[in-house]
Amino acid sequence: MNKKAILLAGGAGTRLYPLTKIVCKQLLPVYDKPMICYPLATLMLGGLRDILIISTSKDLPMLEDYLGDGSRFGIRIEYAAQPKPDGIAQAFLIGADFLGDTGASLILGDNIFYGKLDFYREALALERGACIFGYQVRDPERYGVVEFGPDGRAISLEEKPKNPKSHFAIPGLYVYDNRVVEFCRGLKPSARGELEITDLNSLYLERNELHVKLLSRGMAWLDTGTQTSLLEAGNYIATIEHRQGLKIACLEEAAFRMGFIEQAQLERIVDDLPKGEYREYLRLVCAEGPAAYHPEPAG
Ligand code: DAU
Repeated sequence: MNKKAILLAGGAGTRLYPLTKIVCKQLLPVYDKPMICYPLATLMLGGLRDILIISTSKDLPMLEDYLGDGSRFGIRIEYAAQPKPDGIAQAFLIGADFLGDTGASLILGDNIFYGKLDFYREALALERGACIFGYQVRDPERYGVVEFGPDGRAISLEEKPKNPKSHFAIPGLYVYDNRVVEFCRGLKPSARGELEITDLNSLYLERNELHVKLLSRGMAWLDTGTQTSLLEAGNYIATIEHRQGLKIACLEEAAFRMGFIEQAQLERIVDDLPKGEYREYLRLVCAEGPAAYHPEPAG
């Protein structure tokens, strides 16, 4: 696999106002850690180590202050600004130099996945084409929607259709080959003035080069778009963490279990952490060694 990753964490955060007046949506807490940890952990657990974080110029300093250059987690993080929320697919134009001629995975900074990530690792291994996912939801009209033909192949993609043709929403996690930047350059803004991710995916579909994998119902894909769904996501994370005594999307732990950092580095990190529950948790992770609960600390 030779792929880099983009984590898109911009947008105006209007639906979560006034929370987002103070801090950007992706730094809001989802139970015990900032929201961005969840998509970042998903990328790391997929094995990706070259990551570009895109956000507004107002919010980038705070994100950078929190995550730095990534070396703490054994990864490389770069940052770039998106002046206006002109569409999700614009991420590839902003990230063109960062990507060079490698393929890319994109994750939206407000998407939370919890469960076995084999589906993602398989998608990342694809050499050619693109891969998106389908996840059954009660309210598909809020998302990109994929329709399947009788043979199970995807036949249409629609962005927030009034009358959805299926119950399968397309989560904000995508994998593309190295033609993605070239394809994005050919996209025109939609009626709402955005470069649509669904239009990019449709280009791959028209060429018969779009893989659509259904996520199993045992997988959790959580929404954080509204006050209620943000609270529900936090409660979900709290429930699982309390039950297992394991943290979801603890970046230092993910780095350690993936072999991105050594035990000695984790020990130094733990020593520098403020006294509290997070530090105690990581101290235990460190003492147990990298093999405990490897390789699925979830993401
Ligand atoms: O969550 C999955 C859905 O995400 C997909 O099913 C849809 O196909 C896709 O269009 C997107 O729908 P949303 O309604 O969630 O898109 P939204 O405009 O809210 O953007 C999603 C996140 O991406 C949001 O946290 C802000 C960020 N974003 C969005 C745009 C349009 C940016 O950083 N820049 C942008 O230009």
